[in-house]
Amino acid sequence: MDRIVIQGGNRLSGKIQVGGAKNAALPLMCASLLTSDPITFQNLPRLADIETLARLLVQHGVQITMNGDQSSKGESKYGRCLTLQAKEITDTTAPYDLVRKMRASILVLGPILARCGEARVSLPGGCAIGTRPVDLHLKGLEALGAEIELDQGYVVAKAPDGLIGADVTFPFVSVGATENLMMAACLAKGTTRLINAAREPEITDLADCLIAMGAKIEGVGSDTLIIEGVDSLHGCTHSVVADRIEAGSLAMAVAATRGDVELIGGRLDHLGAAVEALQKAGVEFEETEDGFRVSCEALSGTDVMTEPYPGFPTDLQAQIMALMTTTDGASMVTETIFENRFMHVPELTRMGANINLHGRSAMIRGVDGMNGAPVMATDLRASMSLIIAGLVAKGETIVSRIYHLDRGYERLEEKLAACGANIRREKEPD
Ligand code: EPZ
Repeated sequence: MDRIVIQGGNRLSGKIQVGGAKNAALPLMCASLLTSDPITFQNLPRLADIETLARLLVQHGVQITMNGDQSSKGESKYGRCLTLQAKEITDTTAPYDLVRKMRASILVLGPILARCGEARVSLPGGCAIGTRPVDLHLKGLEALGAEIELDQGYVVAKAPDGLIGADVTFPFVSVGATENLMMAACLAKGTTRLINAAREPEITDLADCLIAMGAKIEGVGSDTLIIEGVDSLHGCTHSVVADRIEAGSLAMAVAATRGDVELIGGRLDHLGAAVEALQKAGVEFEETEDGFRVSCEALSGTDVMTEPYPGFPTDLQAQIMALMTTTDGASMVTETIFENRFMHVPELTRMGANINLHGRSAMIRGVDGMNGAPVMATDLRASMSLIIAGLVAKGETIVSRIYHLDRGYERLEEKLAACGANIRREKEPD
């Protein structure tokens, strides 16, 4: 296993390239199951989750070819450009040993059911940040006429005569359920309306790709999506939208070091309430030709509450908490989306942070300097939070179990080192 070692205190300055969005790439790759034509995805990030999903799709019969950045010696490192083709789906089962590694695998359910009339997909199970059920996915597919049963930890879905368009109202916003239902509805007979749909930029990116494949979708970007089913979809070429969570995470790292960095490819307009919250705290943003610049000289406390897009993203909650430990003010961070997304708090406390939890809220009081320490990553975004703290802490911070980090950040230590951070990756000693 690897770990990351940081000597804190260096200011970040320069330019960093923002990669393609993990949370767009995953549903986009599942959309390849909806057609027998090839789909070419550009700007795909090189992430563990992408490789895991690729292995699952191959198991279903998807042929995957890499273009560009061919890695040498047959390493399984995916290039930035992949072509996926599901000429036919040879296996409609998504096995537990793959699905449990990457819960977004549940997103093969809608496409396989819509294309084949049946699917058997392992329930993803919970994860560190919560139980994360998929009841909205299943209820939505039942509304489209599917028969759904649970059998030994698997979802067994049948629609032998195909899916029928219907109205689906989500009781609360779910990114994954919106994606699964939108993909399934593309091949249903008739019209589907998804009401109270998620509006994240990754949903818009998926809708844009589906429309390029011949789908008929209206209301893209709003909370009501209207999908007119078609008999079949065709291939296309699609470039994955920039990763707003990587961009937001990097912006917070820059602000923590009081630095000044241009995020190439970053989309300021996709950062929603995160920009307002950071500007209120004293972070400055400036649109540039190639992305946006983020800088900070003085920082004060601010309060945030996570909400569905365009509210403050839950995927930036751990990161802003680390940032707020570097101010001399008080901040309140409230997590409303997941029930257990404060696991970074004990680790930040080990570094000297002053954080008190009250139910779903954390009260952070700035301290005059954090201290480097050996800490442990517990989940993807917590890993980033510990790295942000390590960049400004006095002395050495060692972040272990960074396989969590590699699920969602590509070459992070290289990107930060290129802007002046004293950071390296090394093997965990035996
Ligand atoms: C997506 O997860 C993202 N993952 C998450 O990013 C992100 O945190 C989340 O959306 C919220 O923005 C991907 O896109 C691959 P939800 P998803 O369905 O779709 C509950 C990261 O760090 N719920 O919007 O699973 C659920 O438990 C990851 O990159 C149900 O109860 O999130 C949660 O409390 C973490 N029943 C809330 O809704 C359901 O059927 C929001 O979940 C579905 C969800």
